[in-house]
Amino acid sequence: MSSRRKFIIRSTQASLGILATKSLQGCNTGIPLSTETNNEIQPLVISTWKHGIEANDAAWKIINAGGKAIDAVEQGVRIPEADPENLSVGYGGLPDRDGNVTLDACIMDADGNCGSVCFLQHIKHPISVARKVMDETPHVILSGEGALQFALSQGFKKENLLTDKAKEAWQKWKVESKYKPIINVENHDTIGLLAIDKQGDLAGACTTSGLAYKMHGRVGDSPIIGAGLYVDNEVGAATATGMGEAVLKTLGSFLVVELMRQGRTPQEACEEAVMRIVKKQQYKDFQIGYLAINKKGEHGSYCIHPWFNYALHKNGENKMYDADSFIKK
Ligand code: GLY
Repeated sequence: MSSRRKFIIRSTQASLGILATKSLQGCNTGIPLSTETNNEIQPLVISTWKHGIEANDAAWKIINAGGKAIDAVEQGVRIPEADPENLSVGYGGLPDRDGNVTLDACIMDADGNCGSVCFLQHIKHPISVARKVMDETPHVILSGEGALQFALSQGFKKENLLTDKAKEAWQKWKVESKYKPIINVENHDTIGLLAIDKQGDLAGACTTSGLAYKMHGRVGDSPIIGAGLYVDNEVGAATATGMGEAVLKTLGSFLVVELMRQGRTPQEACEEAVMRIVKKQQYKDFQIGYLAINKKGEHGSYCIHPWFNYALHKNGENKMYDADSFIKK
């Protein structure tokens, strides 16, 4: 074949390749629209509510030392889990109606591995049990007594998680026993924490004692992969806080990541996920907040009611920000 003919064939193949790429980009394939590589990785840590500041600090130490995002997110959320003053996560969390502290948590890494525990009692660090489920078992979720037995077999200690402060609050609640979610309870709730490490890999963790005074056995969104947390290392990551039932009905975090895959910014994706709830549910009665990040290190946040805030550790600063809300202040 003449070299000119070879040249024409190569050029035609190249043009067809470009056309094929363009046409793929034009239709909604589920493939990320942008294939550009971002050489400037922006490591960051972002997490829900003001307890996120200390959690971010712990996570950032690992990221800054060149560690993995998956280790950073686990270590980050262990801080509020161990804090007896924190009434919505881990040790010191408000109990269910019967006075039992029952915990939900999940974790997800850059390879799509994930682990979760739900309705777990007596273990201070459910996130680390979730990590063990991910690393040491063929399963994704362990629940209740089975999760407790697994935790004990892994060397976790059985503890009383009901602090005097939480017990007193529960005893006051029992006087009227009114079961009504309170929006922005003490201005904090679940901790969901997302991170990008220096290699550009993403991970997330989510942990909570769930709705205060819930029915015994109730499981919220936080331990459900795709609801309280989702990570896709090609696209981004998202986490949710607030009324778990509303997030579960819309598989909120998965939705946010899929919207980013289709080209939405993290902000647009969070707004759309909140709107799905607003359109179909009694949104005035409860709070939902979403946080999202994409591979470029951009972030977004949105909530139903004002006063959902989040902590962002980026560019050497760890600061609180207010999320924009559907209902304005
Ligand atoms: N988002 C926490 C829960 O509903 O349990």
